[in-house]
Amino acid sequence: MTEGYRARDEPAVVVSGLAKSYGRVRAVDGVSFEVREGEIFGIIGENGSGKTTTVECLQGLRDRDAGDVRVLNLDPGTQRDALRHRIGCQLQESALPERLRVWEALDLFAALSPRSREWRQLVEEWGLAEKRSSAFADLSGGQRQRLFVALALVNDPEVVFLDEMTTGLDPAGRRAAWDLVREVRSRGTTIVLVTHFMDEAEELCDRIAVFKRGRIVAIDTPSALVARFAAHSTVHFSYDGDDLPWLSSCPGAASVRREGARFTVTGDGPLLAHVAAALIAHGIAPLDLRVERATLEQAFLGISELAGSSR
Ligand SMILES: Nc1ncnc2c1ncn2[C@@H]1O[C@H](COP(=O)(O)OP(=O)(O)O)[C@@H](O)[C@H]1O
Ligand SMILES: [Mg+2]
Repeated sequence: MTEGYRARDEPAVVVSGLAKSYGRVRAVDGVSFEVREGEIFGIIGENGSGKTTTVECLQGLRDRDAGDVRVLNLDPGTQRDALRHRIGCQLQESALPERLRVWEALDLFAALSPRSREWRQLVEEWGLAEKRSSAFADLSGGQRQRLFVALALVNDPEVVFLDEMTTGLDPAGRRAAWDLVREVRSRGTTIVLVTHFMDEAEELCDRIAVFKRGRIVAIDTPSALVARFAAHSTVHFSYDGDDLPWLSSCPGAASVRREGARFTVTGDGPLLAHVAAALIAHGIAPLDLRVERATLEQAFLGISELAGSSR
């Protein structure tokens, strides 16, 4: 088979039984997953759970001890050179010389790759235009971070690995980065996103692998993880009339509370739809009807507890 050739619909990344130890520390302990082409695939987990080691093995930056890894149908362990031009790697903090200027870094990286994007556009997109002539040493943490992401994209990669992309960015910077990541994906790039921010994973990722102590303890879409592992959702509305005893027989409703005019219904499943239907059927249409969905953060805590207790 041609190197790096993939059949249609073949996953961009295939990992099977990946393991890596540092001395006695089993950093990655038998991890298997696939990333589909064009997907934003999230890797979440507490500090030290093996996320970075995993993506380093996928990028050919670290040798694995065991398992099979294919990225764009290439083995990052033995075909690193063929792979290098086709993937985007976010650099770690110490990777650039202090005196190198922003534009020089981008120009250099673009020159090194056979296929490259117009780096001036990346400078604009990632908010570095004003800093293009600044030395790396003079950039703030957030600016460095954005430069690292821009550098990961300059070779117009088919798969890009982003490890804690928004660490050090302020809230506006994070939102801007999320928009850009979506745009990168809309051009067809597959994205593997390591993050410890639950809102980021929930917002961006199509599917998420939850790591714990070097293993994957859950893997699914954010909404499926929330539905499976998070606590109930809660429906709120205001109504000034008599009590509504029929509310508690809404499908999925577990409890109904009332404080003055404020009603709170807690339960599972599509609770908002059931409560809304029941209210409408009784001629009540509250203006402030809303649902408070469980979040990925709650799901993550639920998963961590389950995974912890099974050991
Ligand atoms: N270069 C290294 N040498 C020794 N131990 C390491 C090294 N890198 C990571 N580790 C250890 O491997 C485990 C997994 O680390 P890492 O992959 O960085 O996790 P994460 O990215 O999820 O925080 C941790 O226990 C960490 O201390
Ligand atoms: Mg890490």
